[in-house]
Amino acid sequence: MPGGAVVFGTTDTSRIEAPVTLKTYFMCVFAAFGGIFFGYDTGWMGGVLGMPYFIQIYTHKPYPDDPRAAHIPADFALPAWEKSLMTSILSAGTFFGALIAGDIADMVGRRPTIIMGCVVFCLGCILEIAPEDVLAVFVIGRLVAGAGVGFISAIIILYMSEIAPKKVRGALVSGYQFCITIGILVANCVVYATQDRLDTGSYRIPIGVQFSWALILGTGLLFLPESPRFWANKGDIEKATIALARVRDQPRDSDYVQDELAEIIGNLEFERANTPQLSYVGSWLACFKGSLFDGSSNIRRTLVGTGLQCAQQFTGINFIFYFGTSFFQTLGTISNPFLIALITTLVNVVSTPISFYIIERFGRRRILLIGGSLMVVCQFIVAIVGTAAPHAQTPGGNPSAVKVEIAFICMNIASFATTWGPAAWVVVGEMFPLPIRSRGVGMSTASNWFWNCIIGVITPYFVSTDELDLGPKVFFIWGSTAALSVTFAYFFVSETKGLSLEQVDQMLRETTPRTSSTWRPHTTWAAESGKVEKVVEDKASGDAAEV
Ligand code: BGC
Repeated sequence: MPGGAVVFGTTDTSRIEAPVTLKTYFMCVFAAFGGIFFGYDTGWMGGVLGMPYFIQIYTHKPYPDDPRAAHIPADFALPAWEKSLMTSILSAGTFFGALIAGDIADMVGRRPTIIMGCVVFCLGCILEIAPEDVLAVFVIGRLVAGAGVGFISAIIILYMSEIAPKKVRGALVSGYQFCITIGILVANCVVYATQDRLDTGSYRIPIGVQFSWALILGTGLLFLPESPRFWANKGDIEKATIALARVRDQPRDSDYVQDELAEIIGNLEFERANTPQLSYVGSWLACFKGSLFDGSSNIRRTLVGTGLQCAQQFTGINFIFYFGTSFFQTLGTISNPFLIALITTLVNVVSTPISFYIIERFGRRRILLIGGSLMVVCQFIVAIVGTAAPHAQTPGGNPSAVKVEIAFICMNIASFATTWGPAAWVVVGEMFPLPIRSRGVGMSTASNWFWNCIIGVITPYFVSTDELDLGPKVFFIWGSTAALSVTFAYFFVSETKGLSLEQVDQMLRETTPRTSSTWRPHTTWAAESGKVEKVVEDKASGDAAEV
């Protein structure tokens, strides 16, 4: 190891990590808080765009007779291009933010990168809040804030995956998804509370609330340790040991710490020997090395990570979060847009914690397959009922059909929230080898935002009355793309439950996605690289034991 001492490990595959303590648990739970940025920032814009005050300052149109948000007429609105620009520019910022963040996280560390993300995010918020009606500054502010969210959303996943104990890593990273859902819910509530104000507080309060997220996350992270895997990658074994001892809540000289460190280093040396990275450009090119047909090659992992995030978006979930309000309104049963958003976001929030259990009990791959299949069924039922029941879309037209549609839309959200929502993030954090992990996670996160944006841009054409006007038939499209997502998971996603990140690397080398669930660790990286202090043969049992 450059600049470091040789670290000896164990041959015992069950001893490569210390038992989980409450402290190690709470460190990750705190980091999951970063999901709030993601959820809240995607959640407030839609509401602000419908606020009478916000519309008035950008259009200079006189207020309608009843200037309450829920009652404003359709012609008192921002032009479509402005709405689209203000909404989608966030994704542009997050896309580039996530890509750049991977590099920075390898240079200065995971923690400082997230803290930098908080600072960038605050700068963006200041730009959004400062001027009263200068579109360019608002849009730049949204771009900058987006870059901050990109930093945070990519590197939190990386950081959590690297510090979480293997037995509960899936559940803890799912906590990040839970925070996304809470962020969306809180944004909806804050926007609801301020939407009818006819002063700058209407939109400045929802934006300003975000400073508190940055303050909490940025300050809290100052007290958390850096990822030991970052220091190992840097070749600083001393700092890696200190960080590992802190994240595992063990003394520095504990065997557990030494053994886990030996695994991290053994695996890193193997990976480096496989793909030497001599220059900056070379280190990027390393993400695309190897054969597409080799399940453990870097190019395959990069494509699976970015593809999985694309597949998550094509489950169609954001159709409901972005356009659900207008869709439910066409069903005629619920007219209050806030109530509609509240129902969908609440179903999302309350069902997500189920994933904490099932992701560790049944594994990532299985829940992706089952959850995705349920989404296919639910979305096809909504499409079929909506198309077959003739007046389902006419207010009061076919109440039973409408109830069935609403019930299956809610089941669809719950299916996503318990499976694809968290599992896509969990898998992305686990599947890359250390030398390309930060870039791989960054690219995968960027892919999530890219496809999120594309869906946001194309969907209005599917549902607008002056375009394709698909109505509930749009769920035939989402049901079909969700089926493609399930197919993708079946052929390309391996089971990573219960394995250390280094064992995941071993598993990818020895199995295919379809056989991965039955793989069990049978050797350690320390043993493979001959870095076990002393091994004696137990003659009676034939087993090797260390002394
Ligand atoms: C997705 C977002 C989605 C959110 C809903 C996330 O995992 O990436 O696009 O809006 O879940 O909870």
